[in-house]
Amino acid sequence: MEKSLNVMVARDRAVLAEMMLDLFIKAAEKSLAEREWFAFAIPGGRTPRAFFELLAEDEHARQLSWEKVHVFWTDERCVPPDSTESNFRLAQETFLLKLPIPEDNIHRIGGENPDPHFEADLYEGIIRQTLGTAFGQLPVFDLIILGMGADGHIASLFPGSAEEMEDKRGVTATERLHAGFQRISLTAPVIASARQIIVLVAGADKKEKIAEVFGTPRDEQFKYVYPVHHLWPVQEKVVWLLDQEAAGEDRT
Ligand code: 6PG
Repeated sequence: MEKSLNVMVARDRAVLAEMMLDLFIKAAEKSLAEREWFAFAIPGGRTPRAFFELLAEDEHARQLSWEKVHVFWTDERCVPPDSTESNFRLAQETFLLKLPIPEDNIHRIGGENPDPHFEADLYEGIIRQTLGTAFGQLPVFDLIILGMGADGHIASLFPGSAEEMEDKRGVTATERLHAGFQRISLTAPVIASARQIIVLVAGADKKEKIAEVFGTPRDEQFKYVYPVHHLWPVQEKVVWLLDQEAAGEDRT
């Protein structure tokens, strides 16, 4: 039985950000109502910026019980937090400093750590402790927001990398440099264990990969090709939020 894809297409990046904000607030309110806390993880890159900027200014978002909200990252470049390449800096300059989020609820990956593998282990410990994950269980985020690279990567799990199939750790460090930096990343099992996953994809450069990946049979025998296929077995938890260019519906 093929699992259906939950795809939402926005006219442009601005509408994409508005739709992401709406899904974010719904996810937060649901988690806060059910569990008295909301733990989410965000990516870096270009696509989420407009959403982060809207989040910072939205009155409804401001009224969330931020003292019960915990912010994590799906991945980070191994750079200092004030680097223009830092995913933390992107969040800090767009929304972290503008919303009443307690500092203790902001769980930054230490990209400046000279030992990325040690940092990955440290970060996994922080995740497990904050989420109250039992020994031997996978941490469960309420929401994980991902981007997707034109090569089909998610977080910092890149095609053909040693980390792509890592399933013994919840957080790993890349062996290779990607766009000039080693990375620290949630691994596929932790990503797939989230209660909800939203994949934000925008731009014509993603159209070809989206068309290829969406053409993958969605039954149990599907053929894994790219890291984004780690989401295939959990499609019921995934929302694909695309702009028209990435969805190949751009007629201008
Ligand atoms: C990062 C991100 C990465 C990103 C994709 C898509 O650290 O760069 O976490 O996984 O989501 O590369 O990036 P764009 O949004 O810039 O297309």
